[in-house]
Amino acid sequence: MSRPATVRIVEVGPRDGLQNEPGIVPLAAKVALIEGLADAGLKNIEAGSFVSPKWVPQMADTAEVLAALRPRPGVRYCVLTPNLKGLEAALAAGVEEVAVFGAASEAFSQKNINCSIEESLARFQPVVDLAREKGLLVRGYVSCVLGCPYQGEVPLAKVVEVAEKLMAMGCYEVSLGDTIGVGTPDKARAMADAVAGSIGLAHTAVHFHDTYGQGLANVLACLDLGVATVDASVAGLGGCPYAKGASGNLATEDLVYMLDGLGVETGVSLDLLAAAGRAISDVLGRAPTSRVARALAAKAAA
Ligand code: HMG
Ligand code: MG
Repeated sequence: MSRPATVRIVEVGPRDGLQNEPGIVPLAAKVALIEGLADAGLKNIEAGSFVSPKWVPQMADTAEVLAALRPRPGVRYCVLTPNLKGLEAALAAGVEEVAVFGAASEAFSQKNINCSIEESLARFQPVVDLAREKGLLVRGYVSCVLGCPYQGEVPLAKVVEVAEKLMAMGCYEVSLGDTIGVGTPDKARAMADAVAGSIGLAHTAVHFHDTYGQGLANVLACLDLGVATVDASVAGLGGCPYAKGASGNLATEDLVYMLDGLGVETGVSLDLLAAAGRAISDVLGRAPTSRVARALAAKAAA
C-alpha cells in the first residue's frame, strides 16, 4: 500500500457544481462561495468556465466572478477553456491555470463539446501551447472514464490513450472523470492504475461523481495506489449538463472527513468548509447532499 501522506484537493463546486443548477446563481453568492472555500484552506479552486454562454448559461459571468475575488497568494483559480476564445477570456481575467476537457467516449464528446475526440484534441493543442507560452498551467480532463451516458461501456485503452495525448500536448496533470458516477472501487483502481502506469502517479488526479454513492470508496481505492490529487465539490453540488442523471461530485466535506480520519493531510478546515457549503446551500434553497455536512449541522443543532 502506498497511500499518500498528503492529498491535494481540487475544489470544483463553483464550476462543476453550479454549472448544473437549473437557475443562475447570483454573482455575489458565487463570489462568497469561492472566498469561503479559500478561507477553508482550499488552494486549488475551479472558479468557472469560459464556454459558450448558449451551451452553459450558468457560467456566463465567470469573468465577473474572477474580477470580484480578492487576490490570495497561494490560491490558484482554474477555469475551463475548450478553445482559443475561452483561453483569451481566461488570459484577460488573469487566472494562473486553465483546463481543457476531453472524453474517452465519442458520443459524450459530441454531446459535450460538439466534436469528435480527435477534433477536440486538435482544438486543444493551440490552447495548451498559448496558455503555456503565457506561463499558465494547463489541466486536462478525461470524461466518461468508467462509463458513458450515451454509449455505455468505455474501453480502458481509450481512457489511457486520451490521457497520454493530453499529457503529450503539455498538460501538467490529467483528471480522470467518472462523469456519471457509475464506477465501483476495483474498476476505479484498475482504471487509475492503467493511466498512472502510463503518465505517472504524480500527474494522475481522480474526479468522481457520487451518483451511485461510490465516490468515497473509489477515492480510497485510488489513494491506496498512491493517487494524491482528488477533485471534489462542496456540499456535493453538481452534475454535468450533458450527462443526464449525473448527480453531484463527491462532496468535499465527505472527502475531508475521511482523509482527516485516515490521518492524511489536506490543509482544509472541515468546519469552515462546511460553513461555505451551508451558505451556498441556503442560496440554492436545499440542504447539502454531503452526509458529513448534514451530520455536522445536526450536531450543531443538538
Ligand atoms: P460550437 O457551437 O461547436 O462552437 O461549440 P462554435 O465555435 O461554432 O461557437 C458557437 C457559438 O459559441 C459562437 O457564438 C461562439 O462565439 C460561441 P455565436 O456566433 O453563435 O453567437 N463560443 C464561445 N463563447 C464564449 N466562450 C467560448 C466560446 N466558444 C464558442 N469559449 C463549444 C463548441 C465547446 C464552445 C460548446 O460546445 C460549449 O461551450 N460546450 C460547453 C461544454 C461544457 O461546458 N460542458 C460542461 C463542462 S465538462 C464537465 O462537466 C465534465 C468534467 O467535470 C469532468 C467529468 O465529470 O467527467 C470536466
Ligand atoms: Mg465533473
